[in-house]
Amino acid sequence: MPDTDLTLARTGGRALSRIVYDEEQIAARVREMGREISAAYPEGDPLLVLGLLKGSFIFLSDLVREITRPLHVDFLVASSYGSGTTSSGRVQLLYDPNAEFAGKHVILVEDIVDSGTTLSRLIPMLEERGPASLEVCTLLHKHVASRLVREPRWVGFDAPHEFLIGYGLDHSEDYRNLPFIGSLPA
Ligand code: IMP
Ligand code: MG
Repeated sequence: MPDTDLTLARTGGRALSRIVYDEEQIAARVREMGREISAAYPEGDPLLVLGLLKGSFIFLSDLVREITRPLHVDFLVASSYGSGTTSSGRVQLLYDPNAEFAGKHVILVEDIVDSGTTLSRLIPMLEERGPASLEVCTLLHKHVASRLVREPRWVGFDAPHEFLIGYGLDHSEDYRNLPFIGSLPA
C-alpha cells in the first residue's frame, strides 16, 4: 500500500477515506481478465476493443496488453456526469469514430458501472451497427443499476457504494493518474 505522504502528494493534499484496490490487486485482476477474454472468442475472429473515454484509458491500456491475440482498439467519448459525484442521467456522445463493426466482436470497455445509464443508452446504439457480438467489460461494478439493458460479461471488481477515484476514474477531472483506486470521503 502506498505510504500516506506519497498519497497526499499525489492527491494534492486531499485525504482519501481509504485505498480500495492497490496496484498489485488491480494488475493481478487485469491479467486474469485478459486471459479470460483471450480464450473467449474463436481463433481468427476479429476483435475490436472499444474504450469509453476518458475513464477507461488506463484500464484499457493495461487490459489490451494482457489479451494475447490480435485486436483493434478504438474509443468513444460519452459523458453522463457533470462535475459532481452523482449521475445526471443524460448521456452525450462527444466523440464517435464510427468504426466498422460488421463481422467484429466488439468489447466495450468501461471504468465503472454505476446507475447503468451510460451503458443502457449506448448498447442499443452500438448494436445497430451490426457487430458479430457486443460484450461489456468493466473494471468496476457497483451493482446498483436497475436499468441495465445488459450485464457486463467481464467485471474486474464488485465495487463498494462509494465515490471511487484513480486508475482513470476522476472527480471533476482530478485524480485520474493515481496508480491505485481510492475512495473519497462523502
Ligand atoms: P452510470 O451511467 O451511472 O453507470 O455511470 C457511468 C460513468 O459515471 C462511469 O463511466 C464514470 O465515468 C462515472 N462514475 C460512476 N461512478 C463513479 C465513481 O465512483 N467514481 C468516478 N466516476 C464514476
Ligand atoms: Mg467520469
